Amino acid sequence: MIDIKRLAEWEIKKEQHEAIHQLLDKSFNGYPKGKTFFRQQPAFRYLVYTEEMLIGQCGVESRAIYNNGGLRRIFGLSDFCIHPEHQNQGIGQQLISRVIADAAKTDYDYIISLTAEDGFYTSVGFEVHDTFCRWLILADDKSFGLVHRKLEDCLCVYPLKSDANWDPGFADFLGTLF
Ligand SMILES: CC(C)(COP(=O)(O)OP(=O)(O)OC[C@H]1O[C@@H](n2cnc3c(N)ncnc32)[C@H](O)[C@@H]1OP(=O)(O)O)[C@@H](O)C(=O)NCCC(=O)NCCS
Repeated sequence: MIDIKRLAEWEIKKEQHEAIHQLLDKSFNGYPKGKTFFRQQPAFRYLVYTEEMLIGQCGVESRAIYNNGGLRRIFGLSDFCIHPEHQNQGIGQQLISRVIADAAKTDYDYIISLTAEDGFYTSVGFEVHDTFCRWLILADDKSFGLVHRKLEDCLCVYPLKSDANWDPGFADFLGTLF
């Protein structure tokens, strides 16, 4: 039995950040020491608990990006993970279903995730769109400039509206990648 909580980033306490860091460190190779986000902090997070233990998380940036002739509002997912000891039990599926259900109640256009693990996302209805993109590079906690190149086999897009037509010709993230 799992409990999925959704918290604004500013509501998350120091002890919870410590637990999030431990989870990210276990789930991703070489996660930056002491950090709970890779590039920029999310607007809110989903935290998955079983018996008070944190076993999964998903950060969400609420962002407007440019695609197909105008601004599109998106949920940008970051650091989606389930603790290795709890994987392959359908928990990731339950977490992504909750994110999709919440996003579907909004007037947003897309959910976007950037990942090499695109099979997980396509299994729940995301589409992979190779797309020319522009984004801001951050390194060592500093802005480094803009990059413009094609993202291949990693840009997963979930349309939230029937008329949301992703244009692979060009997308400007108007900030960092997630
Ligand atoms: C990817 C991850 C979140 C999946 O979570 P999980 O709880 O193990 O996934 P589930 O048990 O809910 O599996 C859901 C479905 O996705 C499939 N799936 C899981 N991981 C997958 C992957 N890496 N590639 C392709 N399919 C995958 C499962 O086979 C399952 O399909 P089925 O219902 O047909 O059997 C988890 O393996 C993880 O945290 N990995 C490390 C962090 C990571 O790489 N995150 C990237 C974001 S996807």
